[in-house]
Amino acid sequence: MTTLSATPKPIIPFDRTTKIAPSILAADFANFGAECAAVEAQGADWIHVDVMDGHFVPNITFGPATCAAIRPHIKTVMDVHLMIAPVDPYIEAFAEAGADILTAHVEAGPHIHRTLQAIRGAGVKAGIALNPATPASAVEYLLDMVDLVCVMTVNPGFGGQKFIHSQIEKTRQLRAMIGDRPIHIEIDGGITPETAPLMTAAGADVLVAGSAVFKGGSVTNPAPYGDNIRAIRAAADAVA
Ligand code: DX5
Ligand code: ZN
Repeated sequence: MTTLSATPKPIIPFDRTTKIAPSILAADFANFGAECAAVEAQGADWIHVDVMDGHFVPNITFGPATCAAIRPHIKTVMDVHLMIAPVDPYIEAFAEAGADILTAHVEAGPHIHRTLQAIRGAGVKAGIALNPATPASAVEYLLDMVDLVCVMTVNPGFGGQKFIHSQIEKTRQLRAMIGDRPIHIEIDGGITPETAPLMTAAGADVLVAGSAVFKGGSVTNPAPYGDNIRAIRAAADAVA
């Protein structure tokens, strides 16, 4: 297949300012387009899209066709988190769906190096995600081929779980390993105004938040999305 998304991809300038990335896992699944537009209008920096296969993680969400349908409703960055195994057979489809960033798990298979080459080869920024039990050292030989490292602060599969504090030290280690490289550190799971500053202090710049952004709001009452995003950002930036 060679048909590329009709929506031009945004240019993603690199910086370490705090970026809030609402996870649509906590949105209304019958209304993804309007939900993406609503959180962007309320201050979201990126949109985080959780793809789950019922195999790598014990839950199923959606695949490339849904990502392609959502894409025209996203003006910022479409940050696609692949919780699937295998990854390689689906990279082209997710790239064609218009992902700006494709993040694969280091635990998803024996050849993550090849997977990251394929993601960049498809013209998409490459991310690598680490489950809570995986040490920072797992990415040591991958740092020159990624644009983002995602630290899972819950076990992937579900929203609304409790933040795992041991990942703070892991994030500090990753920040030191990354040094001056233009690599984002993204935190995914259990982010709230209470946990966000722990992670920006440790070196994170992208904060994924599902429940904490979407709680209390809807597409017809989006103001709480803005309140929630501002609360997370203010807490995160108080220490960053
Ligand atoms: C978990 C997903 C997360 C999830 C975060 O597997 O990768 O993106 O939606 O949800 P909260 O913010 O509710 O922990
Ligand atoms: Zn995620």
